[in-house]
Amino acid sequence: MWSADGRPVFEVNEVRVTYLGRFPALAGVSLRVASGEQVALLGPNGCGKSTLLKVLAGLLFPDSGTVHAFGHPLTPASLARPAFFREFRRRVGLLFQNSDAQLFNPTVFEEIAFGPAQLGFPPQEVERRVRDMLRLLEIEGLADRAPFQLSEGQKRRVALAAVLAVNPDVLLLDEPTTGLDPRTNDRLVEILWGLRRLGKTLLVATHDLELARLVADRAVIIGEDHRVWFDGPTPEALANRDLLYRANLVGRSWMAHPVL
Ligand SMILES: Nc1ncnc2c1ncn2[C@@H]1O[C@H](COP(=O)(O)OP(=O)(O)OP(=O)(O)O)[C@@H](O)[C@H]1O
Ligand SMILES: [Mg+2]
Repeated sequence: MWSADGRPVFEVNEVRVTYLGRFPALAGVSLRVASGEQVALLGPNGCGKSTLLKVLAGLLFPDSGTVHAFGHPLTPASLARPAFFREFRRRVGLLFQNSDAQLFNPTVFEEIAFGPAQLGFPPQEVERRVRDMLRLLEIEGLADRAPFQLSEGQKRRVALAAVLAVNPDVLLLDEPTTGLDPRTNDRLVEILWGLRRLGKTLLVATHDLELARLVADRAVIIGEDHRVWFDGPTPEALANRDLLYRANLVGRSWMAHPVL
């Protein structure tokens, strides 16, 4: 059912999401993401970035419009099929914007082990993955700690480790650099470069234009009207100062002292 038929990883067509029938989040968004693409999802607070990632992760379903993942409709009915659900969860990983929404296990070790264990990997393989991720994110010393007692940056690293431990083909990362110190930020960029070399598909919602420049060839900018304002090469987006300002991606102080 997952034949490599050349269909895009995601096909999003005229998707609308309005929370509680009153609060618009996506107002007719269309997007195609091919396998192996690295996309930065940019836009001001409340434009709908997190909502779009949740839609792509199959956690939220649009009021109208369609979403296909790997050529299959992404709907409550399709995800109710155990085989599809399992395969989709294995192939698509979401890093939540709020780590507290993601971390629920009693220890960091168990948190990272949870995904691989759910997917049925044998205990030795689960343990190997956990050890690898603890080393990769430099959190070996936290293995026995309770996630909810960690600092925000430490939580972020644990949440990233938990997503990466599943080794998904598609990573949806919601503001991954929030709260990270510079060395951890560098490590994240290196990890994302490594994932690119492995041919993974990456969508990163961020306010960090430097991160977008470093890890994404393509930028999608959503405006305050919850529609796509720009979809094209990242360098082109970042060179368009007027667009960046209108889209509320840079402020007046940046316009006076641009750093990109
Ligand atoms: N659970 C919810 N209930 C009601 N409204 C919501 C809910 N979640 C989000 N919204 C609204 O939907 C819109 C889009 O929110 P979303 O979180 O997707 O924005 P965002 O682009 O991720 O913003 P940020 O940059 O602040 O993370 C906002 O206006 C927000 O207030
Ligand atoms: Mg958000």
